[in-house]
Amino acid sequence: MRVFNFSAGPAVLPLEVLEQARDEMTDWNGGGMSVMEISHRSKAFVAVAQQAEADLRELLSIPTSYKVLFLQGGATGQFSAVPLNLAAEGATVSYVNTGAWSKKAIGEARRYNKVGIAADAADSGYNTVPALQTWTIDPAAAYLHYTPNETIGGVEFPFVPAAGSVAGGGSVIPLVADMSSTILSRPIDVSRFGLIYAGAQKNIGPAGITVVIVREDLIGRARPATPTVFDYKAMADDGSMLNTPPTFGWYFAGLVFKWLKRQGGLAAMAERNRAKAERLYAAIDASGFYRNPVAKNARSWMNVPFTLARPELDKEFLAQAGKTGLANLEGHRSVGGMRASLYNAMPLEGVNALVEFMQEFQRRHA
Ligand SMILES: Cc1ncc(COP(=O)(O)O)c(C=O)c1O
Repeated sequence: MRVFNFSAGPAVLPLEVLEQARDEMTDWNGGGMSVMEISHRSKAFVAVAQQAEADLRELLSIPTSYKVLFLQGGATGQFSAVPLNLAAEGATVSYVNTGAWSKKAIGEARRYNKVGIAADAADSGYNTVPALQTWTIDPAAAYLHYTPNETIGGVEFPFVPAAGSVAGGGSVIPLVADMSSTILSRPIDVSRFGLIYAGAQKNIGPAGITVVIVREDLIGRARPATPTVFDYKAMADDGSMLNTPPTFGWYFAGLVFKWLKRQGGLAAMAERNRAKAERLYAAIDASGFYRNPVAKNARSWMNVPFTLARPELDKEFLAQAGKTGLANLEGHRSVGGMRASLYNAMPLEGVNALVEFMQEFQRRHA
């Protein structure tokens, strides 16, 4: 029996897609083999790879002046690949710190470059997004990096920093975004970004593949010591097949992209995601028993952390939720409490079931 899975990642995947992958598992495309058992260089697999890219381009309206790469190493690999590819040795890079994942990205970047902090949400306990007017961006920075959705804190940017506001020295500083936990949750204007990256294991597919969308003019200047598998130009020139890619993850991502198109694309997903998040936040705010600490304008659609008025009930809450078919609601180990992740594949019925359970639990324990 399937449960409603609120895991932050690896996370729930669309049932329809899981069933299709199951049906095709041992005999894909009539070839008598699974898609995992064929060469990544075979005509059949190259077609899968190219179709996945085409569908992703269509979903996100990615301009032709951007390369789409399917890499390995996760978003964490990109924490290093970004400075290695976009910043010369000795250059300054600029980062916005809004929580745990920003901090990890900053920590890696410091191994390669001098990092300036453009804005810091530490003072608010990482419960807000600092207003753009307060940012101080080094005009000489090679790029400006931010995390549009902080998966652990549940903080999501209500705006994309305007290109003009990150202008320095007469040129516009490329904007780099770690979209791991928000990509494909709503339409975005890719042309506002120099580079977008995302690990797959939330809204794209199984863990093991990392999507990088990068403006063409930013590639081709990787530092000599950059591992070749992280060199955007080398990977772009080879169709992300400089070495063996995670073929199953790429195939599966392609099925998810097709599923998203059948759902009506990202505008339709945005409507659904907004409705799901609003339902849960409204229930939390009205309860007087559950609490979400994030400023209202910065609340994430994808990850909703919340606490109980009586933390001693946390264990019981989780145990009973589990028995009701509501799985993986435990908050991140660093913050405790609860967290409900509402990625694309979580239906509204799952959120309704969670809200009903929360109300019932409160009635019994308040
Ligand atoms: C926003 C964000 N960035 C980076 C990561 C790290 O991704 P990976 O485990 O693919 O390296 C995560 C993982 O949950 C994340 O949520």
